[in-house]
Amino acid sequence: MRKNIVVGNWKMNLNRVEGIALVEDILSKLPNDNNTHIIFAPSFVYLNTVAELCAKNTKVVAAAQDCSANRKGAFTGEVSANMIASSNARYVILGHSERRVNFKESNELLKTKVGQAFDSNLKVIFCCGESLLQRESGLHFKWIKSSISESLFHLSSEEFKNIVIAYEPIWAIGTGKTATTEQAQEMHFFIRNLLFEKYGNKVALGTSILYGGSCNYENAKELFASQDIDGGLIGGSSLNSDDFIEITQSF
Ligand code: PGA
Repeated sequence: MRKNIVVGNWKMNLNRVEGIALVEDILSKLPNDNNTHIIFAPSFVYLNTVAELCAKNTKVVAAAQDCSANRKGAFTGEVSANMIASSNARYVILGHSERRVNFKESNELLKTKVGQAFDSNLKVIFCCGESLLQRESGLHFKWIKSSISESLFHLSSEEFKNIVIAYEPIWAIGTGKTATTEQAQEMHFFIRNLLFEKYGNKVALGTSILYGGSCNYENAKELFASQDIDGGLIGGSSLNSDDFIEITQSF
């Protein structure tokens, strides 16, 4: 059966000292019977240190927030999937709306990045989400369908085991305006149905679909209780140890 997953997407927050302190604090307070898969996505700069701290707990691993679309070479400032894997991270987040919007990342480019990640044996947390305008114009389902199908539907069922999907409506990210549980569940069901139509039951029921966008310790329980919501991709609330732990225990 699919996993319950909570990802802490730290974005460009926390320096090395602060990041290490946060992970150590969370690991020391995490209940012994924790059953949630927890993923920390820190800056590249100290990704390896976080990954090594995570190695002490079988349910906790590290992720990068992005990877290059290129394998190697003259791409100043870029970080390859192979470098990430060699830092002992297990996952890479791809297609976050902040990258789609600020860095003009297209579905086509993300397809290439997914290929790079898989070539280096990294699992992918694939983000998609509509803007407020798209939702208000009734285009949100169409948009999510093309985001997922254009970047992921070339994959085999076997490869899809290494994909986690994160639905993050752009209008809910960092705004304090969470999607209602009904809105989130409706889209998660739609996504799972897309997977069913393309790959059948095994992939549809086996793929974890996370919700992201102002998810916090107060609303996580209700969101995670929904049939098709298997956890969260957490931004702001992942920077506080007590809040984050509470979210991880909200299933
Ligand atoms: P937020 O960010 O929880 O601060 O809204 C979520 C995300 O962007 O992944």
